[in-house]
Amino acid sequence: MAEPRRNISSVDPVWEQIQHEAQQAVKDEPLIGGFVHACILHHKSIEKALSYRIAAKLASNEMSMVVVREIVDEAFAEDPGLVEAARADLVAIYERDPACHRLVQPILYFKGYQAVQAYRVGHHLWMKGKRDLAYFVQMRVSEIFGVDIHPAARIGKGIMIDHAHSIVIGETAVVGDNVSMLHSVTLGGTGKEEEDRHPKIGDGVLIGAGAKVLGNIKVGHCSRIAAGSVVLEEVPPCKTVAGIPAKIVGEAGCDQPSVLMDHMFGSKSV
Ligand SMILES: CC(C)(COP(=O)(O)OP(=O)(O)OC[C@H]1O[C@@H](n2cnc3c(N)ncnc32)[C@H](O)[C@@H]1OP(=O)(O)O)[C@@H](O)C(=O)NCCC(=O)NCCS
Repeated sequence: MAEPRRNISSVDPVWEQIQHEAQQAVKDEPLIGGFVHACILHHKSIEKALSYRIAAKLASNEMSMVVVREIVDEAFAEDPGLVEAARADLVAIYERDPACHRLVQPILYFKGYQAVQAYRVGHHLWMKGKRDLAYFVQMRVSEIFGVDIHPAARIGKGIMIDHAHSIVIGETAVVGDNVSMLHSVTLGGTGKEEEDRHPKIGDGVLIGAGAKVLGNIKVGHCSRIAAGSVVLEEVPPCKTVAGIPAKIVGEAGCDQPSVLMDHMFGSKSV
């Protein structure tokens, strides 16, 4: 008898790939079996795996894993956009980070990815008016990952925060889609503005390690900010800025600097 055909709507190639990679990892290193099983193989979908992973990281003596997981599951059920964004971030990291060879790696090991997914849950809580829960998530993400993102900040999809030590993103900051940033980036205020006081980062921007972008200034689409810069003035689209204070030093050099940062685009297949 012929095999029953699978319902096309139940096919999830990304999740299948992640499970396949997880099985291979356990085969290659049996000692990691329990960890990989708990994080990936035990789950029926990417959202269940993500909620487990976020809860395992954020839980503490102050809030149990069961409670954190319930909060994350509820957020994912209320807003499917959270999981859509998590998928976009995963693919972004796989495509842009030369150290990422498998889709399963960010879920298991990359704190930039884990921190952004937890922030997304905190932002959802904030938007629902559950401010104390949102602050709790912010606190735990900051304690665990060294990534301090205010839950009111707005962040797009396809985000890669590589290395992710010491990231600060302020309350009124906006980050567009397909942005890449390295460690020690601050999107902060100058201390001289009230209310709307943080940067607005356009789509496709690449922000180098240690860059500080200060004040309610626009950073135009597809621009690049050099490592170590202090950006105090608006950056036009498609330019490269560098220095303290940052000045325009040239064109961005390509359409999407955040994507092409490592010239790996197109050399891997999902
Ligand atoms: C230094 C600071 C307090 C501004 O001080 P200010 O005296 O009002 O300075 P101004 O904005 O008038 O700028 C004066 C000059 O200093 C420069 N400047 C300002 N901040 C600078 C900085 N952080 N690094 C280097 N140069 C800076 C300006 O470009 C300007 O140069 P110019 O005169 O050649 O045009 C502010 O820019 C700053 O850095 N605040 C700290 C913010 C911070 O840490 N935020 C993180 C929050 S999470």
